[in-house]
Amino acid sequence: MTLEQMTICGGGNGAQTLAAVASHNLACNVNVYAPFADEADRLRAGIASHGRIETKGAVKAQGRPRRISADPEDVLPGSDLVVLVLPAFAHEPTLRAVVPFMDEGAAVGAIPARGGLDFCAARTLEELHREDVTVFGLQTLPWACRIQAYGRIVHVLGVKETVDAATRPTSSLSRIVPELERMLGVPVGKAGNLLALTLANTGQIIHPGIMYDLFRAWDGEVFDEADIPLFYQGLSPDGAAVLGRLSEEIQAICLGLGGCGLDLSSVRDLKTWLVRSYRDAIADDSSLWSAFVTNRAYASLRAPVQEVAPGEFAPAFSARYLAEDVPYGLMVSQAVADLAGVETPVMDEVVAWALDRLGERAVDDARTPQAYGLEDLDDLLAFAAES
Ligand code: NAI
Repeated sequence: MTLEQMTICGGGNGAQTLAAVASHNLACNVNVYAPFADEADRLRAGIASHGRIETKGAVKAQGRPRRISADPEDVLPGSDLVVLVLPAFAHEPTLRAVVPFMDEGAAVGAIPARGGLDFCAARTLEELHREDVTVFGLQTLPWACRIQAYGRIVHVLGVKETVDAATRPTSSLSRIVPELERMLGVPVGKAGNLLALTLANTGQIIHPGIMYDLFRAWDGEVFDEADIPLFYQGLSPDGAAVLGRLSEEIQAICLGLGGCGLDLSSVRDLKTWLVRSYRDAIADDSSLWSAFVTNRAYASLRAPVQEVAPGEFAPAFSARYLAEDVPYGLMVSQAVADLAGVETPVMDEVVAWALDRLGERAVDDARTPQAYGLEDLDDLLAFAAES
């Protein structure tokens, strides 16, 4: 596969980082599809005034996307690779908007995939009669990144040393991984299938698990700005134990699926993943807790809060750490566990706590296999293995 053109979908932190990095690393045209609000106009204006879009911090890259548009017809045709860098709730509407304009045999994927991308993409492609399109996903976003000046500068706080990718059909993996590696400038590992990525999604453990740790005992009292807890570095040893148990339950699901012939070897336990991803950024990896609180890439990031009155803050339970990582993360793994007959008591407790805060809508959103008609384990395994 030789890329002649690629299109990035999105206009946020990750999409702008990828716009700079891919323009820097690839010789091909890089387009951006940004239909949300006035993002396309703001991106064009930012890049025009700065002359380029650039990343600073842990990754230094710069480039100039060729076309930026809110109209898919302007930026999709001719692209070999289409990359969604979006929160998971935006995957399906974005797929529906872009796939009709994709060239035959092109690939579309999401960074990060989160849970159940394959269920949603397969149904969407089937409904659009575009089963020629390959789907790919990356286990995580390679960067921790925040926009510093819209359309101009993104600050990259940390970069992972490696990320895993999977495709559907699984046979497309060897073709796509070298392109993803060149595009990202980061080694890309091969995960056997997208079900493995669903289970290997560490955001589903880390984000709801830390929210549970920080705010489980919150009594409704507002706090001052100075008391907003650090997110990762505010993790308690007990919270790290919860994260460890969630990770064990994910491993138990893999064991429960064991013997089914699916390659789940890329589903690593949380500490192994953390050290593999951030080896040089972690000062003390002697425990899961110390690996979190001494990780330079996580330094200074604060817990999501909302200002409820001037200078008064409360936890933002609607933030993505719950609103994305529960219905598009932990609930997907919980549903797979259910099909595999594996008990997940800690996952159940964290999901129940989160649902109390998110409301029933999260249940409707959950991207579980069952929601896409995969009602028993045999159906799920046959779907995941399609090559
Ligand atoms: P962001 O909040 O900066 O950007 C979100 C973008 O999604 C928006 O700019 C817009 O283009 C699009 N969007 C939002 N609402 C939409 C809607 N209703 N319809 C269509 N498009 C919509 O998000 P960010 O930080 O780029 O994150 C993207 C993904 O990467 C998320 O899944 C996030 O959890 C994940 N991630 C982000 C990290 C980071 O450091 N930024 C680190 C690890 C994962």
